[in-house]
Amino acid sequence: MNNDIESVLYSKEQIEERMDELSGEITKKYENEMPLIVSVMNGAMIFTSDMLRRLNFKLNLDIIKASSYQGAHSTGEVKIIQDLRSDVKGRRIILMEDIIDTGRTLKYLKDLLMKRGAKSVEICAMLDKPETRTVDLKGDYIGFNAPNEFIVGYGLDYDGLYRNLPYIGILKKQIYA
Ligand code: IMP
Ligand code: MG
Repeated sequence: MNNDIESVLYSKEQIEERMDELSGEITKKYENEMPLIVSVMNGAMIFTSDMLRRLNFKLNLDIIKASSYQGAHSTGEVKIIQDLRSDVKGRRIILMEDIIDTGRTLKYLKDLLMKRGAKSVEICAMLDKPETRTVDLKGDYIGFNAPNEFIVGYGLDYDGLYRNLPYIGILKKQIYA
């Protein structure tokens, strides 16, 4: 295990098993809908790529880059750093995200896509921290709940590091204190 990790929350095997279940649920609903998968960069990159290979139906993929986070503390303001190239008008969208914390990022993105004329927007997130929610937002497909700690690995970073860990872990407090 990486020295900066306090403990492993979910192992590679647990994540893979859960992705099998989640992708089954999504397939039931979307296999005849040709949805547009919108992956929120950079955190959702690894989760998205592993989920996509489990979705065996016609779909499109696009990415959007938003930021609301500086280090370990959310600033609250959401900015689009890199926008979609796709027209979302009339499309069914599945937003793929690494983690829902305050919920501000996904609420902002969901509202934005609806404003642009999407037919529907659902949310698939690898992790959910329900305790820290400050806006009214619910995920539709959630991998796991996470405690109110700083989580890294499987795409999640702290200041750009740890995204490549093959498990989801709790970062030692002394690293970001
Ligand atoms: P929200 O807008 O507060 O829901 O923040 C969501 C974004 O904050 C996520 O996409 C992550 O990039 C980041 N974030 C929130 N909690 C954590 C965490 O525990 N570890 C790493 N990134 C986090
Ligand atoms: Mg993110």
